[in-house]
Parts: sequence; C-alpha cells; structure tokens
Amino acid sequence: MTDATSLATALPWDGLILGAALATLDDDTGYAAIADAALGWRDGVLTFVGPRDALPDAPERLACEVIEAAGWITPGLVDCHTHLVFAGDRAREFEMRLEGASYEAIARAGGGILSTVRATREASEDELLRQSLPRARALLADGATTLEIKSGYGLDFDNERKMLRVARRVGEALGVTVRTTYLAAHALPPEYKDRADDYITAACEWLPRLHAEGLVDAVDAFCEGIGFSPAQTRRMFDTARALGLPVKLHADQLSDLGGAALAAEFGGLSADHVEYTSEASAQAMAAHGTVAVLLPGAFHVLRETRLPPLDAFRAHGVPMAVATDCNPGTSPLLSMRQAMQLACTHFRLTPEEALRGATVHAARALGLSDRGVLRVGLRADFAVWDVAHPAELVYWLGGRLARHVHAGGVAIRMPG
Ligand code: NIG
Ligand code: FE
Repeated sequence: MTDATSLATALPWDGLILGAALATLDDDTGYAAIADAALGWRDGVLTFVGPRDALPDAPERLACEVIEAAGWITPGLVDCHTHLVFAGDRAREFEMRLEGASYEAIARAGGGILSTVRATREASEDELLRQSLPRARALLADGATTLEIKSGYGLDFDNERKMLRVARRVGEALGVTVRTTYLAAHALPPEYKDRADDYITAACEWLPRLHAEGLVDAVDAFCEGIGFSPAQTRRMFDTARALGLPVKLHADQLSDLGGAALAAEFGGLSADHVEYTSEASAQAMAAHGTVAVLLPGAFHVLRETRLPPLDAFRAHGVPMAVATDCNPGTSPLLSMRQAMQLACTHFRLTPEEALRGATVHAARALGLSDRGVLRVGLRADFAVWDVAHPAELVYWLGGRLARHVHAGGVAIRMPG
C-alpha cells in the first residue's frame, strides 16, 4: 500500500465541499437553506450536511478531496420523464406545425411518433446509443444526476428491447442512475393498423420477457384519442401489476379520458402531462399518492393553452414534479433548468416549487427514496451552481450555471 492510499483510507470521508450555501430542501417549505455550509460524502453517500462551523474536525483530516466552492448546492436534478433514446429528429415536422398542421393531424397521417419509430427501428443498438448519449450528457451538464428513459419508438419486441438496452447503457456509460420505463403502448405500429387490441395483447406478452432480462423498472402508456383507450391502458396495467411493476401514465394531455384517475387507481407513481385532468382525478391522485408530472416543454412547443389544474393539485396536496419530456416531437428539450423555467412562466410555479419538482417530487415519481434532498445517509447526488440565489436557476434562459455535478459522490465530467 502506498502512503497516499493508506492516508486516504485513514480519512473518514471521500470528499468535502466547503463554502457554498445549501438548498437542502429537507423540510416541507422553503429551501431549508444552510449558509457557509459543508457537504461531505463517502462511498457515494452523504456523511455531513451542515454549517462549516459544525464540522467535527479540520477539513484536511476529514476527506482526501476538499473543494472550496461558492454559490449554491442543490440536490442533483431528477429528470423523471424522458424519451431521450431515439434516432433521427423531427425538425421538419416542427416546420410543418409552424405552417399550421396540428400534432394530431400529422400523427394520423403516419408522421409524428411513427416517423421516429421508422428511424429508431433502422438504427443499430450502437448507433442508437451514439445518437442518444449527447442528449443525456447535456442533461447531466445542466445538473441532472438521475434520468428516466422510456421505450416506445420500437413497438415490436426486438426494437423495444433494443431501446431499453440502450437506456441501460446510457446509465452505465455516464455513471448515473437510469430508470427504464416500458412504453410499448405509445403508438400503434403500422403492422397492427386497425388492430389496437391485438397490439396490446402482443405488448403485454413482451413485457414479462423484457422484465426477466432486468430491462424494465416501470410501465407507461399513452392514454389518448391518438394513443390507447382507458380499457387498453388497463390491460397493460394489469399485466404490470401481475409482475409487481409500478405504473405511470401519459394522462389527459390533449383531452380528459380520466387517465390520471386510472393511474391513481393502480397506485401509480405518477400521472404525466395532466393538462385536462379534472378536480375529481386530482383528488384520486392525492388519495393514492400519485405525483403530477408537469411537462411544460411539450405544452410550450405545441403552443397549448389549457393549463393543468394547478390550484386543485395544491389544494389537495398532490406533489408536482417537473421533467423535460425530452423527445423528438413535442419537447426537444435538453435542460432541466429550462423545464423549470417553463414551469414557472407557463404554469406559474414558484421557483421553490420548480426546484422541489425537479428534485424531491421527481424522485418520488420514480419511486426513489434515497435521493431528492440533501440529507446524511442519502445518495451524494448534488450540483454546485454559480448563482447568488436559487431563484436564479429558473431566471436565466440557457447559459451554463452548473460548476460541479456529482452522482453517487463521483464528479461528472463537464464539457470543456
Ligand atoms: O410525451 N405524448 C406522447 N409522447 C410524447 C411525444 C412523443 C413524440 O411525439 O415523439 C410526449 O409528448
Ligand atoms: Fe412523454
């Protein structure tokens, strides 16, 4: 053993950051801030969260790596709803929408999601990974340390499997947690035209096989006029439940089919989009602890006008998460800060609600109780920001504010 190694193992912690303020969020209201703070960790877990004055020893006797910082430290951001594994892009479709075509009309004409399905089916697994990694890297560089990634552009067994394998490989390549969600019930593939029930039967048969390979953490569906009916969604959810898998749902985005209430009935982790969700559905969500995942990127890009029932969510105590919905059609959004910004401008979230939505409530929307706040014993996932106040995180549009981002105590390499 070298001297350096024996010294390192003799020190209690792996790392320590000093001098920044902490937005721990470890309280029900406010940022639960600590000024001139210290944050220590070992083996990927936080070992100290408090004022620098309260450190038990001199910093150099506590950790091998001591970083002096300024600004604010928040929990690592959790992007709890993405479709970031896909091939190609839909910039031309964006142009068509700007010229007046609607999202639904393009989808019904075989464009939209199905055009990404064609590109994704054509790409090899390695090629899909190559195209997806830069999107994940952009999210991490802007403070994300946990990503959810859905399938749903494969729509057959092999291609759904390929997408889920790529999602897992993104997490391995970048050293962050990736939670995978099976979204075969995203659109009807052309080979099942006019046979949606048969397609759901097939998608329900693929699920246990993919789950057996360790590729599925949760199950989702697109419950919508241009997606699948509540009855078809229910069949998918019954299959998930039989396997012990949690569910979440693209619910009430373009119309109210009672999707959020259906997700709640199944004890769903979340109902996502929720623009058309009724007050009764919000109450059902509150009763079952189902998180409302707000996706202001899709709202913005589709130039929607119907706001989610924010007052009902607040009144009934439904936790509100914020996510990018990163996807090639409705939300080509590569920044959690920008998603938070859009949630404030379009949905009137307060900066504090947006930050909680991107951390503690987003972690809950993934069923992860080991992250989302800065607390001793939780994962050492955090971001150090060049800001004078947390509201700055949702104030700037663009730019680079994250100075250091750590996932499980390990620094994520920032772009040069
Ligand atoms: O969350 N609504 C369905 N799914 C995506 C859009 C996917 C796409 O258009 O490619 C969404 O908005
Ligand atoms: Fe989505």
